[in-house]
This record gives sequence, C-alpha cells and structure tokens, in this order.
Amino acid sequence: MAKKVDPGLNAMASKATDSSKPPLKAPAKYELGFIVNKDHKLSPSYKPALKAIPGTSKQMTPEAVAAFSKMRKAAKKDGISLTAVSGYRSYARQKVLFAYYSRQLGAKQAARVSARPGTSEHQTGLAMDVGASSGRCVISKCFASTREGKWVAKNSHKYGFIMRYPKGAEKTTGYAYEPWHFRYVGTAIAKDMKSKKVKTLEKYYTK
Ligand code: DAL
Ligand code: ZN
Repeated sequence: MAKKVDPGLNAMASKATDSSKPPLKAPAKYELGFIVNKDHKLSPSYKPALKAIPGTSKQMTPEAVAAFSKMRKAAKKDGISLTAVSGYRSYARQKVLFAYYSRQLGAKQAARVSARPGTSEHQTGLAMDVGASSGRCVISKCFASTREGKWVAKNSHKYGFIMRYPKGAEKTTGYAYEPWHFRYVGTAIAKDMKSKKVKTLEKYYTK
C-alpha cells in the first residue's frame, strides 16, 4: 500500500472536518488513496495545492498533473488523444453544480450522478473527467465505447488512476456508472487494485 504523501495535501490536513462515520481501513485524509464519498467529507475551505494541466485551464494537484500528463503522452503514442474535461472544482462550484442537477432531475436522481458539495472527489484535486478530443460522448456513458474510453479504462492503472465509479457498483460508491471519472491514487494502489480485481476504493479498504 502506498505510503507516499502529497505534501501539498497534507499541509491542509488541519482544515479538515471529521467524518460522520468511522473511516474504512483507508489512508488518513489527504494521503494518497484517502476516501472521499457520501460518508467521508471535505470541509468547505479545503483546497489542495494546484497546477494546470499543460495547455489547458484544468487543474489538479502537481503530482496528479504529472501522472495525467504521462498518461496522455502514452495514449498519444497509441494514437489516442485524451482531453481533460473537468479537474479540480471548489466547494462553491460543486454547490452550484449540484443545485443545477437537482433542479433538472430532482434531488434523489441528482445525488446518483452529482456529488453534494463537500463530497466530490473533484474538490481533492485528484479527480479528472477524461474525454476524447473528438468531443464524442463527453461525460456520457457512451464514452466507454469510444477508443479513448477503452484505452483509459485499460491503461489508467499504470499511471496511478482508477475508474472511480465503475459499472454495477452504485451500492458501494453511491454513484451511477461514470466511465469518464478517474481518480488519482498513485501507481501502487491502482496496480494493486487491478491485480486483486478490486473495483472500488471502498471495497479495497474493507477487504
Ligand atoms: N459526478 C461526480 C460524482 C461528482 O460530482 O463528483
Ligand atoms: Zn468527475
């Protein structure tokens, strides 16, 4: 299990609020692999150190940016062009988004596809919604059947990313299938999950 700590994240640990439920056997908050979900929240003021993905306005933590850039480069070699659709989002931005989905879908349905503020991995700076440069199937289930969606599903673990909301895992993750949402957990955890065939962080830390 990775013990590597992102100093940018750790430096912010004092700003965290405690979770309402006891943590799984997961790394402490802000260490690689830590869990953010409906039960494990971030404080509104939590903001990690951020860096832009080169050539875009999308941001992640510096370590995640390096990993994403490496993954994008490897994809390019295979003739696959990945885009950064949505990276870091503030608590305030997530509040606006969740309110939007609630108006569109009603709160119950909205909660299946959008995180309430404080529960989005996007606020950690470790999540990226990945797209295809063709613009096909952006933030859509059909991304899974694009060349880009297939490539990233197959290869992301080599660069430390996991598909965070896999198919058929809604009961565990709290969210419907999102073949575009990838979470940076570092290569040790991502590869270990792959080799153990564990699909979610929740299951990984309860085994
Ligand atoms: N769509 C994911 C669950 C989020 O809003 O963070
Ligand atoms: Zn996402």
